[in-house]
Amino acid sequence: MWTIAATWCMALEGARKGAEILKEGGNGADALEALITDVENDPCFTSVGYGGLPDAEGHLRLDAGYMDGTKMVTGSVMAAEGFASPFRIARSLSAYKTNTVLCAEGAEKYAREHGFEEKEMRTESSQQRWKDSLEQDTQSAYRGHDTVGAIALDEEGNIYAGTSTSGLFLKRPFRVGDSPLIGSGFYADSEAGAAVATGLGEDLMKGCISYETVRLMKEGLSPQEACDRAVSELAVRLIRAGSEPGDLSVVAVSKDGHTGASSNISEFSFVFADCDHEPEVYLVRKEGHCSIYEKAPEEWIRDYMMRHNKR
Ligand code: GLY
Repeated sequence: MWTIAATWCMALEGARKGAEILKEGGNGADALEALITDVENDPCFTSVGYGGLPDAEGHLRLDAGYMDGTKMVTGSVMAAEGFASPFRIARSLSAYKTNTVLCAEGAEKYAREHGFEEKEMRTESSQQRWKDSLEQDTQSAYRGHDTVGAIALDEEGNIYAGTSTSGLFLKRPFRVGDSPLIGSGFYADSEAGAAVATGLGEDLMKGCISYETVRLMKEGLSPQEACDRAVSELAVRLIRAGSEPGDLSVVAVSKDGHTGASSNISEFSFVFADCDHEPEVYLVRKEGHCSIYEKAPEEWIRDYMMRHNKR
């Protein structure tokens, strides 16, 4: 039994690569890396890796996180600039007992010393969009940023979670969202399951939403129930506090390979595959307090890819 799942339609190609690894009995961390680096390398997806959208100063500072839910080790990089795969750097940091979360120059120094591929991650088009947006109000620029968050459960029962993002477009330099924060952007525990989040980092952090989703699975909730509960309780709590919740979306996989997803936005897509299902894109919709997901129509996928200039 194996499962791979990830946020957003953009993870489809990567999920196919990851599923091939898991199908052959490969390691879940390698499957996770295959998925996430596929998105990081694709300039069509402008909220992750190469071609990601710059911060207010025009720098492309990237965040990533990784957790191995069997060994209970993690690694994160925050605001790292000039490297092809922040996720690979985060994964490599999980080998250490200490110094596993590095930011900015510290992360870059580590990456250089350990031979990670250096790369100008801004593309002509991402720089152009930054220039064009300088007049834009930041609140509208902040919408629609999509983190890739992924989970892989391998045949050995090991579960892994990881993320990679450029964060909010036009963010304040060195602003960090939920994605590289353990428990907020991602969490994995092979004794329960794993969860990853996407949406407005500032709000997702307030609920430590990935940890909360895994904790609920540990208490016996299914991944779907856990995702629904974690998203709705956080949203309701924020409303009670007088604030309007930003986008909150979460995907989870339980230790027995079942998948769940929930969101407070109207069009949240995710991808999953397991030993009985080929990689497919699903759309989540609310029915009362619960979410259900259905295979995304081909036409919807074509439209999504066209919106991202992906042929
Ligand atoms: N969820 C990504 C971010 O807020 O940076």
